[in-house]
Amino acid sequence: MLVDRHGRQINYVRLSMTDRCNLRCNYCLPEGFTDFLPKTALLSYEEHLVHLRVLSDLGVTKLRLTGGEPFVRRDLMSFIKAISSEKLFQEIHITTNGTLINDYIADLEQLGVNGVNLSLDTFNRENFHRITGRDEFEKVLNIFHRLAESKISLKVNAVVLPGQNIPDLLELVHLTKDIDFTMRFIEEMPFNGLNETQREWWNYEKLLHYFSEHVALSPIPTAHSSTSMMYQVPGYKGKIGIIAAQSRSFCGTCNRLRIGPKGDIRSCLYGTSTNGLKELIRSEASQSELIKFFEEVVSAKPKDGFIAEKSMLQANTNHATMAAIGG
Ligand code: 5AD
Ligand code: SF4
Repeated sequence: MLVDRHGRQINYVRLSMTDRCNLRCNYCLPEGFTDFLPKTALLSYEEHLVHLRVLSDLGVTKLRLTGGEPFVRRDLMSFIKAISSEKLFQEIHITTNGTLINDYIADLEQLGVNGVNLSLDTFNRENFHRITGRDEFEKVLNIFHRLAESKISLKVNAVVLPGQNIPDLLELVHLTKDIDFTMRFIEEMPFNGLNETQREWWNYEKLLHYFSEHVALSPIPTAHSSTSMMYQVPGYKGKIGIIAAQSRSFCGTCNRLRIGPKGDIRSCLYGTSTNGLKELIRSEASQSELIKFFEEVVSAKPKDGFIAEKSMLQANTNHATMAAIGG
């Protein structure tokens, strides 16, 4: 088992397949950004499978594939098929912007993919275009409905962006009236690659206050290790989640480890990354060497995102883009 010094068991891995994306959400990947990883730096699917087998043996039960946009990687479905057929994890989830998955929904269902988190910050086409830099709203709207009707559990992630989508958020809340999905609102984090001082920002309390002026939200139970505070509008089919991502109120039950496209590992979203996994895999390290590597990274997991951020800033590095970290 992977247990850190604070007694937290790590059983959830988020694997970022690529730092590239076909959208340019302004909170994540700025227009004009060119500093992408060369393809040769990325771990291949076969190399990813090497460490995933080790993580599965170490008690990891849940895997999320994320990005960038994971489906910009060629033939991602073959990788998902391999993970699924080896039965490495109890749960497989995917975070996607939805623009490239139209042809794969039936296969994802058939492979038993448990959940899809769709990044969608507004149901207003113009605002979508302004936020993501691309006019792809119709496509994503269609995917939203198809996923809502599928066997795959659907969560929609909207980042709270003052000046860009606040009135639209209420519309997203009301979508849960007739459609059974979880609508999640995420505090913006300063990971947009721009190094700018924080722009106007709403924390979860401000958002809850805003919602409370327009709609009745009743708290409902939240699963252990969940990052969301959960609510429901009485009588509505779907649920509402609020994620205090920047306020970092949930670090005490954090159960996750992040692996980047080049095998870089983050034991905390706000912390520095550790390299070395790629070299171990490419030098055909033994199972026990890989286990030792993961145990050391997990053991050094910072107590919370504030401590992690402090040490990262001391190391004089900056937050990477969210596209490179995978959220
Ligand atoms: N702040 C908060 N959430 C972000 N995401 C991407 N960038 C940011 C940011 N700067 C979200 C995306 C995606 C999830 C994994 O992270 O909406 O759904
Ligand atoms: Fe792409 Fe998702 Fe980042 Fe938007 S949030 S730029 S969709 S990776």
